[in-house]
Amino acid sequence: MIEKEFNYILDAYHPENFRKEGHALVDLLADYLKNLEKRQEDIKVLPHFAPDEAFSQWESELENPGTKSLTDLFSKVLNEGIHLHHPGYMGHQINPPAPSAALGGLLNAFMNNGMAVFEMGVPGTSMERAVINVVARTFGFSDHANGLLCNGGTLANLTALLTARACISAFPVWNSGNMSKMALMVSEEAHYCVERAARIMGWGSEGIIKIPVDDQYKMKTNLLPQYLEDAKSKGIEVIAVVGSACSTATGSFDNLTEIGAFCKANNIWFHVDGAHGAANAFSEDWKFLVEGIETADSVAMDFHKMLLAPSLVTALVLNDGRNQFKTFAQHAHYLWENDASFEWHNVAKRSFECTKSMLSLPVYTLLYQYGTSLFSAYINRVNNLCQYIFGQLKANNNWEVPVPPSCNIICFRFLPSKSTRLIDINHLNKYIREQIILGGNFYIVQTVLSENVFLRLSITNALTTEADLDALLDAAMGYANKYIAI
Ligand SMILES: Cc1ncc(COP(=O)(O)O)c(C=O)c1O
Repeated sequence: MIEKEFNYILDAYHPENFRKEGHALVDLLADYLKNLEKRQEDIKVLPHFAPDEAFSQWESELENPGTKSLTDLFSKVLNEGIHLHHPGYMGHQINPPAPSAALGGLLNAFMNNGMAVFEMGVPGTSMERAVINVVARTFGFSDHANGLLCNGGTLANLTALLTARACISAFPVWNSGNMSKMALMVSEEAHYCVERAARIMGWGSEGIIKIPVDDQYKMKTNLLPQYLEDAKSKGIEVIAVVGSACSTATGSFDNLTEIGAFCKANNIWFHVDGAHGAANAFSEDWKFLVEGIETADSVAMDFHKMLLAPSLVTALVLNDGRNQFKTFAQHAHYLWENDASFEWHNVAKRSFECTKSMLSLPVYTLLYQYGTSLFSAYINRVNNLCQYIFGQLKANNNWEVPVPPSCNIICFRFLPSKSTRLIDINHLNKYIREQIILGGNFYIVQTVLSENVFLRLSITNALTTEADLDALLDAAMGYANKYIAI
């Protein structure tokens, strides 16, 4: 290699460059947190960029490599992305990571331990098991519980359903392929990834049996026997029931105790999609929401939605961890010697991913600092804030709340007084959301329930205050009145 070329390599790995840029980045982020604490007016929660405008700007940044500092780049990324740490962020379900968890993420990225086999991730594999044990104990799982951390709730749900298929089906699908009709049962309000998992497994539309919900958007569990009989009469083998804890749109929790009893009586796998809400198990005050979770065969829970970790970290925990080894029974002599044994420490035997990063480190960092107390404090705080705004909404006749919030998700819409009802209420609520986002002090989302548009909040920032929520409602009311007056 010619000397000039090698200089690039020396520069890229230069310890002093790294020290300088690293310190500058941490300073940048700490100042950013301070500015948000002071609620600096010039930080818009969602800076506005049209897609093509954003793309051409970012593409042109690559035209003259090496001419600007890394701090320029990092500041630009920070300024132009959505600001989850802003107290006005109340949008999609993803939390502002605790800064120390993000530092764990940096170390993870730096070390790049591959994790597929023990040798390639000694601390990561061990920390992963420790984290899983904490979660399993919190759910009240058996002594045989085990599991893994994976990249997101979508993948965790798919993996759990693959395990269910391996454990429940009368047919050896893994070796022979799909030779029979199979299905899962899930509430019609479940996250789309459950349906996607059934389709990936080749079960088609018949493979997703959607159970209707009640007026609180919870699965009507009393319908399960009838839907099971119906499936059987069509020659469909029901492999699993998926309970939502909670549903995405309204944050409604299915009755896990009833689903668990039904599954046990019928030898069906019980999986809980707790991507968002299983985290409530960490709070003494809120764990009632997931009562019955201990009867599940498997649970998926995202640490990046409700437990302060950077994306993605999802725990997939099985009540009987030995079942995980049935999911992917494959030979791989270049990775492990013994295909048949239950080697917990060679993670790729049980996981969809081969190489995976040390997902445990950000979570382990928080447990190392605070035990589970931080998780519990966080859940209590965001859920209580949600109860606060619910109280404010109930006190004003102009607001309609379709379902009292169970946790930190709430939907509501503005209903004009009867004399002004001729206006399009869906359009009005979409307008409120648009204006709120353009205003820059808040980011909220919307959903559609029974063809009506609702504003939707997931309160994920524990530093949001009651005053912030009052200010949001004042702003929303102002936009509503402006719309009506036009
Ligand atoms: C109930 C539920 N399940 C699964 C998912 C998907 O999780 P992830 O985004 O981690 O893949 C979501 C995402 O919002 C969700 O709300």
